[in-house]
Amino acid sequence: MPSESTVLSLAATEPQLGPVPRHVAIIMDGNGRWAAKRGLPRLEGHRRGVEAVRRAVRAAAAVGIEHLTVYGFSAENWRRPADEVADLFGLLKRFIRVDLAQLHANNVRVTVIGQRGGLADDIRLLLDEAEEVTRRNTGLNLIVAFNYGGRQEIVEAMRQIARKVQAGELDPEAIGMDTISACLDTRGIPDPDLVIRTSGEMRISNFLPWQTAYSEFVFLPDLWPDFDEHTLHQALDEFRGRDRRFGGRSGKAL
Ligand code: IPE
Ligand code: IPE
Ligand code: MG
Repeated sequence: MPSESTVLSLAATEPQLGPVPRHVAIIMDGNGRWAAKRGLPRLEGHRRGVEAVRRAVRAAAAVGIEHLTVYGFSAENWRRPADEVADLFGLLKRFIRVDLAQLHANNVRVTVIGQRGGLADDIRLLLDEAEEVTRRNTGLNLIVAFNYGGRQEIVEAMRQIARKVQAGELDPEAIGMDTISACLDTRGIPDPDLVIRTSGEMRISNFLPWQTAYSEFVFLPDLWPDFDEHTLHQALDEFRGRDRRFGGRSGKAL
């Protein structure tokens, strides 16, 4: 039996968290399959998916992640039947209405990326409000990617740059990677260190293609509505075991 003081000192050092990524981005996939497995309508899977978002936010804040991006609706998700699209928009509206006060009380800053121009006025106003109300918060930055498409974001950045060149405000030779990063919705946010995708699919589905050039990817078999703090910790463990070289030599002794 270890002495009592040993037990206490062990408890004080566990769990061994190790370095935590500054920015984690999640492709929340598998709501439909979660519902189908239970004979439930897809909407129920999406509802449970919102609860998983709440768990992810709490768990990310608890481990000290600075930026958490969640992919809520892709520019390609318009291809789904109109009733499902309406359900997803309804859930986003409900999420902001129900959770904004609590997010704010927990010092969470909300940032929205994606094409806001393509959204109905009521949603646009809610998203603007969520950003405005939480603008000065200094805790977790929750980045909601809604009506987001990575290639569309790059096209928009190219248009901004072309307009500046045309107006004589920018020399084409002065365009660098920073110029492009500064024209993206994610300007000012560090690139994701870790991208998690649930449901076993291994593709990025137009999610942050510029920003993830050097991210680590963890693909998990879990369906999104089952995601919880343990799932996050599993992904973080896998991330910690990776050797991020960025084209250089191994940081580990080989
Ligand atoms: C993720 O679940 C939510 C969104 C893409 C909006 P899906 O709806 O894609 O679920 P699956 O992939 O059909 O299981
Ligand atoms: C990606 O999931 C978009 C979101 C998670 C919001 P999808 O389910 O739409 O992706 P694909 O169609 O399988 O590539
Ligand atoms: Mg899917």
